[in-house]
Amino acid sequence: MPTKSNYTSTDIQSIFNRIAPVYDRLNNDLSFGIHWVWKQMAASWSGAKAGAICLDICCGSGDITQLLAKQVGTTGTVIGADFAPAQLANAAAKIADIYPPLDQITWVEADALNLPFADAYFDAATMGYGLRNVTDIPLCLTELHRVLKADSNVAILDFHRPSGKLIRRFQQWYLDAIVVPKAAQLGMTDEYAYLNPSLDRFPTGTEQVELGLAAGFSQATHYPIAGGMMGILVLTK
Ligand SMILES: C[S@@+](CC[C@H](N)C(=O)[O-])C[C@H]1O[C@@H](n2cnc3c(N)ncnc32)[C@H](O)[C@@H]1O
Repeated sequence: MPTKSNYTSTDIQSIFNRIAPVYDRLNNDLSFGIHWVWKQMAASWSGAKAGAICLDICCGSGDITQLLAKQVGTTGTVIGADFAPAQLANAAAKIADIYPPLDQITWVEADALNLPFADAYFDAATMGYGLRNVTDIPLCLTELHRVLKADSNVAILDFHRPSGKLIRRFQQWYLDAIVVPKAAQLGMTDEYAYLNPSLDRFPTGTEQVELGLAAGFSQATHYPIAGGMMGILVLTK
């Protein structure tokens, strides 16, 4: 397991394959279920309408994919895409017993840096906690821009380093004192030690806006949420 910030795509893929069995439990326990509120915000802010064709990239266990599917309804289509097959297997298992069935979802193993979709294919897209993990953020944004139709949005939810000193200290304490020990209880110490370096090198909201515009999007806004400890970047093609 690498300990520096130079994780390769293969390192990241194997981390997410390994944490797949505990991923949902950790998310729910560590955020007290509030991650569902943030994920719903991302799904809503993607602007996906009934009947739309949508992409949830870096879908992991598919929470946002499910929210998008409910939003577009049975006449819509949602592709949940991720490069970690263990996450996709979890995602598929989670919707197996949902009634009415979410048949509008298709799970696709795909790399966010080389999307296997045609240009201008999607009406809307989402990404939850994925942008921080890709090894090339500008390329990822360029790919998202390519596959979206004109005037469509992508809503990108992720952690964020707050600018306020106190809240930043709180975030660091929370990661060190709560998240990493909780992950350790579940045998995932090394995997969650990865969170801090990934957050340290993640662009600020302002930098994310600049990257979005540089990728070709016509509008870019970063909305800090949870006191700035999280953020949603909304990009319009
Ligand atoms: C922290 S999880 C987020 C999962 C889910 N979106 C959520 O919000 O719960 C990040 C996901 O991004 C995926 N990922 C990271 N880099 C990727 C890439 N280059 N292509 C596709 N998936 C990637 C990982 O496999 C992992 O499932």
